[in-house]
Amino acid sequence: MGILEGKVIIVTGSARGMGSAEALDAAENGAEVIVTDILDERGNETAVEIGATYRSLDVTSKENWSEVVSSVLDEHGRIDGLVNNAGIYTSQDIFSGSTDTFQKIIEVNQFGTYLGMAAVTPIMSRQGSGSIVNISSVAGMRAQANIAYMASKWAVRGMTKGVAKTLASSGVRCNSVHPGAVETDILFSLEEEAVTDLISTIPMGRSGEPAEVAEVVTFLLSDSASYITGAEIVVDGGMII
Ligand SMILES: NC(=O)c1ccc[n+]([C@@H]2O[C@H](COP(=O)([O-])OP(=O)(O)OC[C@H]3O[C@@H](n4cnc5c(N)ncnc54)[C@H](O)[C@@H]3O)[C@@H](O)[C@H]2O)c1
Repeated sequence: MGILEGKVIIVTGSARGMGSAEALDAAENGAEVIVTDILDERGNETAVEIGATYRSLDVTSKENWSEVVSSVLDEHGRIDGLVNNAGIYTSQDIFSGSTDTFQKIIEVNQFGTYLGMAAVTPIMSRQGSGSIVNISSVAGMRAQANIAYMASKWAVRGMTKGVAKTLASSGVRCNSVHPGAVETDILFSLEEEAVTDLISTIPMGRSGEPAEVAEVVTFLLSDSASYITGAEIVVDGGMII
């Protein structure tokens, strides 16, 4: 029996990359997984491969969140876990990027995470149980030049702690995960030289695999993490030691 047996779990931005690995690991551990994304074709394919269901969800839309949460409740009657994984990246340096880019990054990474938590926490509080895992980054743990992305990921870390403290007595846990350089489209979008430079800063001497982050997420979603809330777990091969 898997550690997520019987749990109903929504994973955002899970058509590909780390989100699809998190959805797969949760399903392999027994969860009923709802794969969500804005990439509908890829999302449907991922859901079929995993044995999950797919719902189209733009995390920046409050209405869309409410539709998805209602349909999951109609189908399963409960929501045990939410992984706020959807995110976009920019490497634009401090003050060099456009304000539109800044706002878009905050809208998806921060506001999308906020809307997700706002949509599921009333249900989890009523149930008296639930686990939210917010995917931040090492960028949410230290200073970086890409100010918009960094700010959004610090915000995710901060909101996590606020929700954890406020809802601890309701049985709802909320933690953040901070990946380093993980092999997905975000990493592959960087120049080869930038990737080599980045990897040279990692004490373990390599990038991470999406599955290595997914296993940590599964643990936090499970009852094995029953006394962990408001924590930040760095998964980075020692990058920010
Ligand atoms: N890959 C890394 O090295 C790394 C490191 C640290 C943190 N992260 C974080 O991990 C998360 C997953 O990223 P990834 O590396 O798998 O990248 P990715 O680009 O492969 O996946 C991101 C997913 O989010 C989806 N998405 C984008 N905007 C959306 C929206 N408005 N609504 C719903 N879905 C949306 C995309 O369609 C995509 O499927 C992100 O939050 C990212 O910031 C990644």
